[in-house]
Amino acid sequence: MSRKVLMNGAYVAWSDATVHISTHALHYGTAVFEGIRAYYNDEAGQSFIVRLTEHVERLYRNMRVLRLNIPLTKQEFANAIVDVVRQNALKEDVYIRPIVYWGAGTVGLYPYGRANDYAIYVEPMGKYFDDIDAGLKVCVSSWARISDNSLPPTGKFAGAYVNNVLAKVEAVQNGYDEAILLTKDGFVSEGSGENVFLVRNGTVMTPPTSDDILEGITRDAIITLSADRGHKVVERRISRSELYSTDELFFTGTAGEVAPITSVDGIVIGDGAVGAITHELKDAYFNAARGNEPRYSQWLTSAF
Ligand SMILES: Cc1ncc(COP(=O)(O)O)c(C=O)c1O
Repeated sequence: MSRKVLMNGAYVAWSDATVHISTHALHYGTAVFEGIRAYYNDEAGQSFIVRLTEHVERLYRNMRVLRLNIPLTKQEFANAIVDVVRQNALKEDVYIRPIVYWGAGTVGLYPYGRANDYAIYVEPMGKYFDDIDAGLKVCVSSWARISDNSLPPTGKFAGAYVNNVLAKVEAVQNGYDEAILLTKDGFVSEGSGENVFLVRNGTVMTPPTSDDILEGITRDAIITLSADRGHKVVERRISRSELYSTDELFFTGTAGEVAPITSVDGIVIGDGAVGAITHELKDAYFNAARGNEPRYSQWLTSAF
């Protein structure tokens, strides 16, 4: 079955879901997007969208920064996402990509006078990282994280992702699974597509939003799950050297899920195995996201 894409309120076939060459967002990156997962629970025979409300809230917050406006309320947009998952009815884990962007027109930076377009599509997505079970080998990127005064890192602005792509390509081509970017002042910020957590002496730590991170929704879930399990959680500035000396290290993200890290720049983390608290939080997250933990059922929207 060919996938269907929702574009400006109408369903089109996957092969027809194209944009015009003069689209402002293609030239200048003036789009905001989201990345959402829906997990197919075989036993329940249901597809659960994870934290739909929070993703739509973030999308609308970012749209405001780029002055994008579409004729849908947040609730209508959330309903449209559910409908896209339903219409495609994929009985497997999927990634949902909503995108809102400045459309086609004549050359020039000032975007007004063009349409504000949107699209929503789904694609099958298993593991984002092949080595998620064994643990990832990461490096500290030679690229600094963009800072809020230049290009807001807190939201998913398409153009800002050039920074992330540069870091990811450098890491992979140097033999690593992923990069960790530092702020321009040299403090730990985040992965190319994930937030980062450290565990030291039983305390779970993650950089604050003021250190140029994306305000991750999985990050928020892990903070809640950690606290609910009695772990002390601290959001604080983290130095580069702490990465090398911590007991445990892991990434969080919608695509990357909860991904243990076992080395940084070739330095082994802890004893080189996935840490106990990382393991516990990873299991807790998957149980919640797959609909196997009633306590967190408010995080899920059943699509079909
Ligand atoms: C740069 C960056 N940081 C962190 C994240 C994790 O955010 P979330 O947990 O909301 O998916 C993402 C996710 O796409 C990202 O692109």
